[in-house]
Amino acid sequence: MAISVRKPSSKARSTGELPELARKHLWLHFTRMGGYLDEDVPIIVRGDGCYLEDINGKRFLDGLAGLFTVQVGYSFGEEIGQAALEQMRELPYYSNWSYAHPAAIRLAAELAELAPGDLNRVFFVSGGSEAVETAWKLARQFHLGNGQRRWKAISRKLAYHGTTMGALSINGVPQLRQPFEPLVPEVIHIANTNGYRRPADETEAEFTAFLLEELEQEIIQAGPDTVALVVLEPVQNSGGCLVPPAGYLEGVRALCDDYGILLCADEVICGFGRLGEWLGTDRHDMQPDMLTVAKGLSSGYGTIGALIASDRLMEPFLEEGAMFSHGSTFGGHPVQAAIALKNIEILRRERLVEHVRATEGAFRATLAPLLDLPIVGDLRGEGFFYALELVRDKETKQTFEPEESEALLRGFLTPRLYEAGLICRTDDRGDPLVCICPPLVAGQAEFDRIAGILGDVFTEAWTRFCA
Ligand SMILES: Cc1ncc(COP(=O)(O)O)c(C=O)c1O
Repeated sequence: MAISVRKPSSKARSTGELPELARKHLWLHFTRMGGYLDEDVPIIVRGDGCYLEDINGKRFLDGLAGLFTVQVGYSFGEEIGQAALEQMRELPYYSNWSYAHPAAIRLAAELAELAPGDLNRVFFVSGGSEAVETAWKLARQFHLGNGQRRWKAISRKLAYHGTTMGALSINGVPQLRQPFEPLVPEVIHIANTNGYRRPADETEAEFTAFLLEELEQEIIQAGPDTVALVVLEPVQNSGGCLVPPAGYLEGVRALCDDYGILLCADEVICGFGRLGEWLGTDRHDMQPDMLTVAKGLSSGYGTIGALIASDRLMEPFLEEGAMFSHGSTFGGHPVQAAIALKNIEILRRERLVEHVRATEGAFRATLAPLLDLPIVGDLRGEGFFYALELVRDKETKQTFEPEESEALLRGFLTPRLYEAGLICRTDDRGDPLVCICPPLVAGQAEFDRIAGILGDVFTEAWTRFCA
């Protein structure tokens, strides 16, 4: 009998081997792996509350909630794990292809209750990209069901909506799209709501009118009866917490109605308390036809997303013989649904949405003095979701050249903040900025620590790069 020579099982491998194994085998997402040929990748081994610990025992304040995800923080593993275990015992897997199961039904009902208006129909997926992909497919097939062939989508410049080919095409970040072109036709990218460099004498109403005028012109130019969908986040993350000016979202809704276009609110980041309301659409009184959610739906304890659609969107699919031709093996997975249900229960019980609303003023007030630093040009955002834009010259709002930004962000800020014990996102998909998005259990101690570390590191950055 031949004896097979097996590699040692991963359990047999000691913690000490992990850096080397990571270097050899693990392919990190959106990561320049060449940077880790000689250096160890950061390895996070445990978490509690708003804090993380790496393999060397160093503690970090997580100013990014995982990846805009861990709303309840890291201390609910036992409780959520128990809910997952009970679901595993009862029914570890079943699909949503032609069948239902209690966890998916209960979660669908819960989400329908949280969603605005008549958004009562929930289609489960595994994450945010898939939710956005589903939104575009649903829009196309919905119009077809009404006898119209509409396929185009409209989204905003710099907005990030995911990585699958449809969601990627909707992205407004050119450097993410380019390597994969040709993409899914056809997406029109309109201006986002970044008002930082708008004319000083422009009123908010004028800014809104400018944005809506551009949107209408783009719809007309595309051919209104070819446009299926407008996708936008209530507050756009990429570009730095871009809050909509007054009247903008109502105006987008009105244009969508005028031209028969569906409106999707991408709530993958804004949802589940991030903006101090259950959904960003609540905060901004937005009335979409569909919502995409993921991340905070499970606080990252599970891998689940959803598209929540209005009753009207279901109508063509209720006709005899009709169906939405879309699905996936893991959409509505019972264990993931049980995890999401428990996460929502915890958000409610711990009153975390109310906590964000009650303390967002204190959070902003703690961050605001950073605006006195010469390198900090703007502070944007709301709830527990902020961005600080970094500039070379505050008076003129002059930004950094791409090479300078590269050296500042990747060469200095990212490693220096990590060294100082703060995980947050440095981002130069648009102008360079730092994003702050802690778990919703953060309080004044965390606000102070975030502001303190950022203050020290920004001061050093100014001396090194600008003075
Ligand atoms: C607004 C938005 N939509 C969609 C996505 C894609 O989600 P996922 O990474 O779960 O596919 C993201 C991810 O960051 C996002 O921020």
